[in-house]
Amino acid sequence: MCQQENLRESSQTPKKMLLKATVKFIIHLWIFVHSMLDNVIDLIFSYIYDDSKRAQIPTVKDSLLMESAVSLAEKIRNKEVSSETLVQKFIDRVEEVNPLINAVVDDRFELALQEARNVDAFLASTTLTQDMLKSQKPFLGVPFTTKDSTSAKGLRYTLGLVSRRHVKATEDAEVVTLLKEAGAILIGVTNIPEINMWCETRNNVYGQTLNPYNTTRTVGGSSGGEASIIALAGSPLGIGTDVGGSIRMPAFYCGIFGHKPTTGLISTKGLTRRTGLEGHTMVSAGPMCKYAQDLAPFLQVLVGKNISKLQLDAEVSLADLKFFYMTETGDVRASSVSVDMLHALEKAKTHFHEICKTPLSKMKMRYSFKLWRYWMTKEPANFAHELTNREGIASFWKEFPKKCIGQSDYTLAALIRLADSILPQEKSETLLDCHQEKLGDDGVLLFPSHPFPAVYHYSSFLRPYNFVYWGIFNVLMLPVTQVPMGLNKDGLPLGIQVVAGPYKDHLCLAVAKELQKVFGGWVPPFPV
Ligand SMILES: *[C@@H]1O[C@H](CO)[C@@H](O)[C@H](O)[C@H]1NC(C)=O
Ligand SMILES: *[C@@H]1O[C@H](CO)[C@@H](O)[C@H](O)[C@H]1NC(C)=O
Repeated sequence: MCQQENLRESSQTPKKMLLKATVKFIIHLWIFVHSMLDNVIDLIFSYIYDDSKRAQIPTVKDSLLMESAVSLAEKIRNKEVSSETLVQKFIDRVEEVNPLINAVVDDRFELALQEARNVDAFLASTTLTQDMLKSQKPFLGVPFTTKDSTSAKGLRYTLGLVSRRHVKATEDAEVVTLLKEAGAILIGVTNIPEINMWCETRNNVYGQTLNPYNTTRTVGGSSGGEASIIALAGSPLGIGTDVGGSIRMPAFYCGIFGHKPTTGLISTKGLTRRTGLEGHTMVSAGPMCKYAQDLAPFLQVLVGKNISKLQLDAEVSLADLKFFYMTETGDVRASSVSVDMLHALEKAKTHFHEICKTPLSKMKMRYSFKLWRYWMTKEPANFAHELTNREGIASFWKEFPKKCIGQSDYTLAALIRLADSILPQEKSETLLDCHQEKLGDDGVLLFPSHPFPAVYHYSSFLRPYNFVYWGIFNVLMLPVTQVPMGLNKDGLPLGIQVVAGPYKDHLCLAVAKELQKVFGGWVPPFPV
């Protein structure tokens, strides 16, 4: 595909060139008008929202909450701290901050404390060495959270649907089982949009989750409850899921790390009612956390037996990597990248330019939104069916009038998804293998996480195409890490996405670690 384009370029008549120049001009004009519009949208929303009366998010009472999960696991293993004490501290933190942001929607605190005491008793009597414990149970005694839409025995499994508001899961999703087997202790589940299908975390069961950096902004979706409770140091590890940015978007808006692994590595059993046997899907579970060093051991647990397909332990020589960057999605309906976000990308580019042998080169992308939309129709799950709790097919024409008179159980976001599914669908199967080819074994692509930092609640309805900044990598099935890159002048997190070739997740993680080392990574949304 890359080569074909080059051929086309060389056989151009003057007429074609004039046409091309005109199209280019119109596109540039549109991009200009579009970014003006974006500014107006933000200005209007800034008048609507006021957070001057919000409660200040309290600082952590114990510095343990600020540590990485691997460091906490080590302290438990060598008995510097008991699991019970640690789990209790995280529970206290959740109880302290959750009323301010509405992230955790169901919990199992008593059971978690009991399991923690069991861990402490086990450690007091085991003959296993520290190294054996580390390799067999890497997160022994460390608490974790997951989404309401990821099946966790005994906890709410509503998917944000009013018709399921009392449903509790009867078994654990495969990823939850794996993390429990690694010794981690589940403390609760967190908020999501209906069936995970919107870029904000809000539903008619639990309401809306607020961004810890500024409560006028969204946490993104769908793993929004996860991202915000992790950013507030209420949970050290969170299992997210990502079909169109659902790990990376909230991780970006809330200033933490999130990794969408190469697709197909992790069992989907128990994720949003999947059996794990559905066949092709763009969805993948993945790790969300405050620190880059937690990503690899966490990912290792989630991939289970498929670990042999990755090289998570390989030494990565950053100087030998080939860096690419990209600033556009190739879809003019998406907003252009703001100055703040370009600046964050620029800082990363400059850093890798200094340490690398090969200079960075630019990549281009096309048709990204069309591609994602097309591949969503190939997903095994039927949104209209899921929306009815699998009891029928939700109809836009029936629900829309009900919504207008306040009688619909569904959110506006769900209705928009329904409307989208009845619009004509352009066939677009072209996979951008060109990107996969170019990235190869040692290529890494740096790409903005989004056009702008965390947006105002509801403003995404006016910019529904922007999630393509994330969705395109689901289509491409590539591994991507969202990396926080400090805060902008309004105190909102900046970030970039680090993309690598298929099964080269370790390259994303190595680059994420380097960026954390140089630019500081997670910045707490509370005074320290
Ligand atoms: C949150 O954003 C609003 C609107 O942009 C701004 O006025 C306010 O100062 C921000 N709050 C904090 C705590 O930064
Ligand atoms: C491992 O990967 C293969 C293909 O990538 C997939 O079919 C299989 O379900 C995966 N195994 C697990 C345990 O997830």
